Amino acid sequence: MTSAQRACLRAALQVGYSWLDRGSSALLAVEQTIRVLERSGLFNAGKGAYLQLDGARRMDASIMEGDGLRAGAVASIEGIVHPITAACLVMDVTDHVLLVGPMATKFAEHFELEPQKRLAPRRRLSYGSVLKRMRTTRNCHGTVGAVALDRTGTIAAGASTGGIDLMLPGRVGDTPIIGCGVYADNDTGAVSMTGWGESIMRLAVAKEICDQLARGGAPATAARLVLQKLVSRIKGAAGCLVLTPDGRFAIRHSTPRMMAGWWDGKGEPIMKDQFR
Ligand code: GLY
Repeated sequence: MTSAQRACLRAALQVGYSWLDRGSSALLAVEQTIRVLERSGLFNAGKGAYLQLDGARRMDASIMEGDGLRAGAVASIEGIVHPITAACLVMDVTDHVLLVGPMATKFAEHFELEPQKRLAPRRRLSYGSVLKRMRTTRNCHGTVGAVALDRTGTIAAGASTGGIDLMLPGRVGDTPIIGCGVYADNDTGAVSMTGWGESIMRLAVAKEICDQLARGGAPATAARLVLQKLVSRIKGAAGCLVLTPDGRFAIRHSTPRMMAGWWDGKGEPIMKDQFR
């Protein structure tokens, strides 16, 4: 974790907590926390999102709340700083859950979300060489996410990403897929995922962790069991934030490191890049 990333993570935790402290909803706290990370350009989301192999920046985000199980998401959205806010708008002003591609971008433009320079596709792809490289190298760092619990006892989860490196144009990962990258249910818990999206999707990991919580598992146990399954069954790689409506939480990862933190308003925010 660089010192700039550490400072940004601290600021994001403080912003999220300050909204909760003023009585705002967990949803708003999650959105505002993620906006700080998207804006920074220091993570793989918003201004810092990876480019797809044709040189375009297409981003994914989703958000969900655990009371009414409401959710919103965008995939392959371009030209905005805050995909998480576009996801919130999908949830709040439409009766849909997921908008994709140019029509998601058009939707964000309609609501005048803050623009970022749109990178036009500029490379012709040789699919043959790309497919060979994809099998040898994989970098899936830097998706951002947050979970929160508000005064009413409602939990929420969100995530935002630029995907992974060496992505074909049009590739969509776990982040905007409800139940895969994000899930929240006041009866079980809130989960936000980071990691290799293709593996996370194949196990619907966020929902699987919530199902473990429903069976009575503690957050750390639920996370450990599902991450173990991810690794042993499909050689996946992921990290998760898990929070229950009674305030228990866990951060776990199958990757060597995961940069994350928490804060309940007391003392200083805790930030680490390894959780065991
Ligand atoms: N977890 C982010 C992605 O795979 O797109």
